[in-house]
Amino acid sequence: MLEALAVQPADALLSLIKLHNADPRATKIDLGVGVYRTAGGETPVFKAIKAAEARLLADQDTKSYLGPDGDMGFVNALIPYVFGADFDATRVAGMQTPGGTGAVRLAIEVAKRAGVGRVWMGTPSWPNHAQIDTAAGLELKTFVHATPAGTADFDALSAVLKAAQPGDAVLLHGCCHNPTGVDYTPAQWDQIAALLAETGVFPIIDLAYQGLGDGMEADAYGLRMVLAHVPEALVAYSCDKNFGLYRDRVGAFYAVSADSAALANAMGNGAAIARAAWSMPPDHGAAAVRLVLADPALTALWLAELDEMRARMAGVRARLAAAQTIGAMSMVPLGAQKGLFSMLPLSPEAILTLRERHGIYMAGSGRINIAGLTDGNIEAFIAALRDVAG
Ligand code: LMR
Repeated sequence: MLEALAVQPADALLSLIKLHNADPRATKIDLGVGVYRTAGGETPVFKAIKAAEARLLADQDTKSYLGPDGDMGFVNALIPYVFGADFDATRVAGMQTPGGTGAVRLAIEVAKRAGVGRVWMGTPSWPNHAQIDTAAGLELKTFVHATPAGTADFDALSAVLKAAQPGDAVLLHGCCHNPTGVDYTPAQWDQIAALLAETGVFPIIDLAYQGLGDGMEADAYGLRMVLAHVPEALVAYSCDKNFGLYRDRVGAFYAVSADSAALANAMGNGAAIARAAWSMPPDHGAAAVRLVLADPALTALWLAELDEMRARMAGVRARLAAAQTIGAMSMVPLGAQKGLFSMLPLSPEAILTLRERHGIYMAGSGRINIAGLTDGNIEAFIAALRDVAG
């Protein structure tokens, strides 16, 4: 039976973890999968999370089931951060998911059940977006996300929205675009919100890096502007990066609508899909986030840790931008891009040479994880780029 299975390629991005681990060179540089690293190259547990985990260990008196929607205290505690302190809470309903991937999966599946036939997506995008869309059986349509100059191709998005058909949805990155780091400006979000309202294209917003761009409030600008203009939307949220909970898989799926019956129905469908896929999300990380958000001192500690991460990444970006040009590549746009990622226009051969000759690991798309660069390796990285692209 099993011999009939088609051979599947390993996930190209996740394979980099193993490849990097197997490289014995002390000078190797990991710019692959999207995890934050300190200037010392570590990905520590947030201090605020450690403190919350200590409380969980001391106080949690059961690990009994919670149900398919997970920890609703966690889901509700995030609402003011995601949607704004003044957001009408009766317009939103949510449930916990295993990471941002679980949330995107629910959003796409619920959209399909609601009658969405096609999903528009700017490319390049996080490779899993296309995989989830295809796995859910939705038609995927693409447009160009970024211009060669490293800014958002707003005209491409706007043309797609204007030409959309009934039943079309658009999947937008709320902030810190993965893989390009190229975000829409606030002025562009204003126009996107107006266009969505005008065309009726259904928005699905993936907010996986809130707080890693310009801050928790600023990074929610686009999402909030869209929700101020449209009657309905779906939101996929991840705490894997902004709480450093990667392997604990902490995410949430939200539906927004003024129609309370429609909201309840969206959650009922989400719960049914979750039940058949994972039954219930893992509890530990979400419970820790809930405790952080319930305690003002831990909340302040968490926000300060996020500030430090942003400042470090801004420093790395400034140093890369200061390299000006490497071969035909301008490094300047990297200084203004947001979040963990930027994409370098390198050939597949150059990416392979970087790995084999210099021990530098990056996605095959040319995406680099900015946080993988430190005082100790950034000059070597720039020199290696000059070697392959200069
Ligand atoms: C990434 O893009 O590196 C992360 O979101 C990890 C993942 O799941 O792909």
